[in-house]
Amino acid sequence: MGVEARTEPIPLARPVLGEEEERAVAEVLRSGHLSLGPRVPAFEDAFARRLGAEHASAVSSGTAGLHLALRAIGVSDGDEVVTSPFSFVASANAAVFERARPVFADIDPVTLNLDPAAAAAAVTDRTAAILPVHIFGYPADLPAFERLGLPIVEDACEALGAVHADGMAVGARGHPAVFGFYANKQLTTGEGGMVTMGDAAMKERIDSERNQGRAPDMGWLDHDRLGFNYRLPDLACAIGLAQLERLDGLLADRARVAARYAEALAGIEGLGLPCPDTGGDVRGWFVYVVQVPRSHDRDEIMRALRDEHGIASKPYLPAIHLMTFYRETFGHREGEFPVCEDVAARSLALPFFPQMTDGQVERVAQALARVLGQAP
Ligand SMILES: Cc1ncc(COP(=O)(O)O)c(C=O)c1O
Repeated sequence: MGVEARTEPIPLARPVLGEEEERAVAEVLRSGHLSLGPRVPAFEDAFARRLGAEHASAVSSGTAGLHLALRAIGVSDGDEVVTSPFSFVASANAAVFERARPVFADIDPVTLNLDPAAAAAAVTDRTAAILPVHIFGYPADLPAFERLGLPIVEDACEALGAVHADGMAVGARGHPAVFGFYANKQLTTGEGGMVTMGDAAMKERIDSERNQGRAPDMGWLDHDRLGFNYRLPDLACAIGLAQLERLDGLLADRARVAARYAEALAGIEGLGLPCPDTGGDVRGWFVYVVQVPRSHDRDEIMRALRDEHGIASKPYLPAIHLMTFYRETFGHREGEFPVCEDVAARSLALPFFPQMTDGQVERVAQALARVLGQAP
């Protein structure tokens, strides 16, 4: 039994769902109101209140939210959107959806977020927006991007719970900011997303475009603009409301696991750890990503962790500009963004979820030390 517990596989992520979510879903099922019902505005209002944002629009995914947010600030054909190559592919894809060109700029080697100086250097007279990503939940330097005087869309898909140095929650600055609720996120609805923003007219546009371009007071089949089906169903909103209730605990547990990792991994030579909070910024913990030593092969580390220790890990994230679609469509090649490329080649996500025990963290740390040849 003891041996079994020690060798039990440790997954990368695991959502925390309980009786509250079950009850919330059952209530929606009993009500029969599965979409466009009362849980949508209830979830939006609770989410906006939690962040201190003026408005929020629930959408079917983070990707859908990014698409609608870029449309809402007017990005269209031939525009350029300056963004980070070290992100999940959706942040760049959203610009391509509108036939705009994602223009990448290199990242800060410490925070791994878009470097404001590099972003400023990438601005041209065709730049329609800056799209910073709060990568791995660490707040991007929004005040620096705001000084560029261009429209901003924030990719906050990984950053629920993050706080800027000035005390403002990520997502509450007024720019459209997009959160994601996929199953590995701080708050999950299975699939889903939320756009927060300061402008009521923008909310009206996003609410319409997520719902096939229908105006709020229009008949079912009249449409005054092009729209999509990016709605978030009431079932998902009900789960989201229950998850919001437990969010403080979920975030605290994630922070506890991260602190435990920082201690347990501190002695491993050549291993890069996530940057600690500095200058008043607070990370909303989403993943625990380390940089493996340059002397080791990442694939081999992953294989050994899995096969010899039952521990899941994943390269996270690959550089967007080096993905096949981006190479073939935009002619990108290696060497363009050296900081991003170095970080992307060494990044390894370790198991990370709120219920992770100190013992599991310890086991991952010991296994990693062993695989790197630093433990017996
Ligand atoms: C940084 C970032 N942007 C965008 C997305 C897209 O979100 P979704 O999967 O909800 O469409 C994700 C989610 O994985 C993400 O991590």
